[in-house]
Amino acid sequence: MYVCICNALNTRTVNQAIDDGAETVGQVYKACGAVPQCGKCKCTIREMLDDRAPRHGTGPIPGMPADPLPAFNAA
Ligand code: FES
Repeated sequence: MYVCICNALNTRTVNQAIDDGAETVGQVYKACGAVPQCGKCKCTIREMLDDRAPRHGTGPIPGMPADPLPAFNAA
């Protein structure tokens, strides 16, 4: 399915950009070699970013040790 008609970006291309590390709509465009034109796809790309983002409490926070309070958690 096309996400961005102006740039012919489909869901597969956008999801690949997100999986490769794009965290903002602008980064998705850049990763896809696209330039926003009408902007109608921005909300859809934002939703795709939100859907694929790690959820709070489901994994380690980047840059944080796996167990930041080992003494507290061992008690
Ligand atoms: S649909 Fe994406 S810029 Fe127009």
